[in-house]
Formats: sequence, C-alpha cells, structure tokens
Amino acid sequence: MIAEVLSDPQPHAVVDVGAGTGTFVAELAERAPGVKISGIDGDPAILARAAEKVAQFGARIELREGLAQQLPIAEDSVDVVVMTLVLHHLDGVTKRAALAEARRVLRPGGRIVVADWGKPVDRFSRGLFFLLQLLDGFDTTRAHAAGEIPQLIEACGFENVKRAGRWPTAWGTLELLTGTSR
Ligand SMILES: C[S@@+](CC[C@H](N)C(=O)[O-])C[C@H]1O[C@@H](n2cnc3c(N)ncnc32)[C@H](O)[C@@H]1O
Repeated sequence: MIAEVLSDPQPHAVVDVGAGTGTFVAELAERAPGVKISGIDGDPAILARAAEKVAQFGARIELREGLAQQLPIAEDSVDVVVMTLVLHHLDGVTKRAALAEARRVLRPGGRIVVADWGKPVDRFSRGLFFLLQLLDGFDTTRAHAAGEIPQLIEACGFENVKRAGRWPTAWGTLELLTGTSR
C-alpha cells in the first residue's frame, strides 16, 4: 500500500527513516527500479541485517546509521520521506524534531508518508492498544492514542495531510498518513 501511494508521481529519491531490517526499502527497490533509496536507522546491528536483504540492488540503495531527529541527509534533496512504525518510539519533543528533519530534507512540494498507530477505532481496539502501550511506553504512544499525529505533522511544516488508509490489527489501529511539504 505504501509503495502504491509512492508510485504517483514516481519519486527520484526516497528516504526511509527508521528503516529497520530493510523490508520496505527492498520492496520499493523491487517495484521502482529508477528510484534511489536511502535507509536510515539508529541501530547499526539492524542495518547490518538490512544490508544483507538489499545487497542485490547495488548502489542505488544506501544504508546509513543516523537518527530521525538529525538526519545525515542534505537539505532540499529528496522527494519522499517514509516513516513506518518509528514515530511511536519517540517522545513528543523527538517526534517534532524528526518531522522537522523530514521537512528540512524534502524538496519544496515533497511528500511525507507515515504509517503508524492512530486513534483506536473502537473500545476493543483501544484495549489492544493499551497492551502495546504497556510494552512500548505511554509517553511515546500517547499522541497516537489521542489521534494527534495528523495535526503534529501539519504543525511541523506540512499541508494536505490526509489519511490514505486505516487498518485494525491485533495491537490497535494502524493508519497511513500522507502530507506535502510547505
Ligand atoms: C518497529 S521498527 C520499524 C522498522 C521498519 N520501519 C518497519 O516498518 O518494519 C523501528 C525502527 O526504528 C528505529 N529507530 C528508533 N528510534 C530511532 C531514531 N530516533 N532514529 C532512527 N531510527 C530509530 C529502530 O532502530 C528500529 O529499527
């Protein structure tokens, strides 16, 4: 679904922030042969696993150790920033810093794509999300439970923030948000 959202218009340069083991980087590389992709993660051990997964795609994939709140990427240099299941690991101040960094590295009119926990759709989903909060922490997940992430994205320099999809899961409600840099 994220790769589909990204296909129109086709970007030239994409950054996956908090790329983890490189699953999305590999999927995008497969679907979009012309795109240059940077995968950034704060954990070098995870990046080593990602490197194995994406080795087949060669030089158009770059994996770099770095923090979402301090991206090792030049200003105004990419078309799309992707963040999947990263924001809910960050406290409120760091979430804002990470979104501001996404805005900094995007070209004017570039897109942000966030897939992360949203406001639970019903009481059952809220109960499931409470279990996730016990594991991942209440401080970092509070804004997600309250449905505040779209407003936060807007406040950090994006417009046309929309929900492109929403899915109930065993841990709560996942949502896909997109926005355009102002
Ligand atoms: C739940 S995993 C998600 C991985 C991948 N995006 C996915 O959807 O499969 C969260 C990832 O974010 C990374 N991470 C957490 N905080 C970070 C930060 N401040 N800067 C960069 N990466 C971070 C972790 O190392 C981990 O790989």
